[in-house]
Amino acid sequence: MHRVLITGAGGGIGRSLRETLRGIYPVLRLSDRVPIAPARDKEELDQTDIADMGAVEKMVAGVDGIIHLGGISGENTWENILQGNIIGLYNVFEAARRAGVKRIVMATSNHAVGFYPRSQIIDHRVIPRPDSRYGVSKAFSEALASLYADKHGIGFLCTRIGNFGSKPIDSRRLSIWISPRDYTQLVRIGLEHSDIHFEIVYGVSGNKRSWYDNSNAYRLGYKPQDDSEPYAAEILAAEAGQAKDPIAERYQGGTFCAEEFTAKTPPD
Ligand SMILES: NC(=O)c1ccc[n+]([C@@H]2O[C@H](COP(=O)([O-])OP(=O)(O)OC[C@H]3O[C@@H](n4cnc5c(N)ncnc54)[C@H](O)[C@@H]3O)[C@@H](O)[C@H]2O)c1
Repeated sequence: MHRVLITGAGGGIGRSLRETLRGIYPVLRLSDRVPIAPARDKEELDQTDIADMGAVEKMVAGVDGIIHLGGISGENTWENILQGNIIGLYNVFEAARRAGVKRIVMATSNHAVGFYPRSQIIDHRVIPRPDSRYGVSKAFSEALASLYADKHGIGFLCTRIGNFGSKPIDSRRLSIWISPRDYTQLVRIGLEHSDIHFEIVYGVSGNKRSWYDNSNAYRLGYKPQDDSEPYAAEILAAEAGQAKDPIAERYQGGTFCAEEFTAKTPPD
């Protein structure tokens, strides 16, 4: 990997990876639709809206691998999801195919499978159960990655990220948190592992309270260094006695499941 492109590089995860991957690859190309701070040594800056195919073709020219983070990162209107996460995603994969890019690490989400109940441990083979229009777009991203892997030979690591941050922020996040250093490790596996065709892994730290069987990530060599457990007592004490939405509490996707929920009975 000589030149690695990060889309959505101006966002929370992108800004973090910009630092943790600094010096790992000879050139980092940082792209977002919003301007990014001045380029440093061994960085290239690019401003592209991924809904614009012409601009996306220029964005991917000459890159060896892509970390695709750009797009809408939560629930939103269908029109915004469509532009950023469906059309934009297609543009990135299709332009990558035309440019001969061999490897893509992609940010999918726990919300692609958010309607699984918290009582169930799920692995990378379960069918999607999206909890939102956003979650549907992430399930679409996994399907499109599978197509481009099988039909065009691009290697994909789809990271179903739980919640990225320096520490877990509530009881739900105790089960799905990932630290910056653990996510950096997963991204590096996605770019550098010699044998990746199409893989789904959970982007979570080694959390004791995890809802995921992340054996596929471990098979690829992932050894998380962090666990949310040291934060648990303080978080649970702070939430004790709080009123909670029963739909949000029942499912892994939390409030994404409860928003706009109109079914008469909760699904199994
Ligand atoms: N942060 C998390 O905990 C988390 C959890 C699950 C999945 N993810 C996924 O990881 C990725 C990064 O998340 P984040 O927290 O850094 O999100 P973020 O919202 O902070 O960053 C996303 C970036 O994408 C850019 N963007 C949006 N639409 C674009 C477009 N049409 N063209 C070009 N750039 C566009 C935004 O300007 C922003 O800088 C997203 O795909 C998100 O869905 C994040």
